[in-house]
Amino acid sequence: MIAPRHIAIIMDGNGRWAKVRDLPRIKGHEQGAESVRAVTEACVELGVEFLTVYAFSTENWKRPAAEVAALWTLLEHFIAQETPTLMKNGVRLQAIGRIHELPQSCQDALQRTIELTAQNPKTTLVLALNYSGRTEIIDTVRDLCREAAGGCLDYQTLTEEIFSRHLYTKDFPDPDLLIRTSGELRLSNFLLWQLSYTEIYVTQKMWPDFSKEDLRDAIREFNKRQRRFGGL
Ligand code: FPP
Repeated sequence: MIAPRHIAIIMDGNGRWAKVRDLPRIKGHEQGAESVRAVTEACVELGVEFLTVYAFSTENWKRPAAEVAALWTLLEHFIAQETPTLMKNGVRLQAIGRIHELPQSCQDALQRTIELTAQNPKTTLVLALNYSGRTEIIDTVRDLCREAAGGCLDYQTLTEEIFSRHLYTKDFPDPDLLIRTSGELRLSNFLLWQLSYTEIYVTQKMWPDFSKEDLRDAIREFNKRQRRFGGL
């Protein structure tokens, strides 16, 4: 079984997982954080170099304020609690999205762990936080326009490669495999540019139920796909 170099995950179904158990939605998110822990560990074991998880979209601000606040608190605790394990397992933490709009304490926790884990050699865990594919593209275009206005870029020489080098994901390869849990067949504004040739795997499982074995199933399925990148 060949491990994909980069796996991206839309972690959906936390709320439904909680609802069928008559629990508050945040319990679903808490259990979802356990799945992030397990899947990160599995990626290290399997030799997956990059794992990007969609933890908070720019659209998630529309949820009730209490759920939004609870998500940021959960994330901050998760980062603090997981840092020793990330160090032990050689995991490097990174984040993409409009990070400067996160609660300050969350930004601080992120920054600390990103710096501490920067030299870790195994899997890079990328948290997509306050992220959307469209805002990423807009931020990229703004960046390029600024360069063009400053005389550092000639718009006529703009290529896909230059564009990619201005995305939030400039340091990561495009995902090989996208996993979406809970059965919805949507991209939900995730990595719109980067997913152009990515294989998509959708499972009915809710994210809090997604296990290391489920990840292996997804990778086995990925291994059966023939990737042609538009060729024959
Ligand atoms: C989608 O489920 C999930 C989210 C919006 C949040 C994802 C957050 C976590 C998995 C936990 C924290 C993350 C980390 C990295 C520790 P939903 O609430 O939309 O579920 P529903 O569609 O069933 O309502």
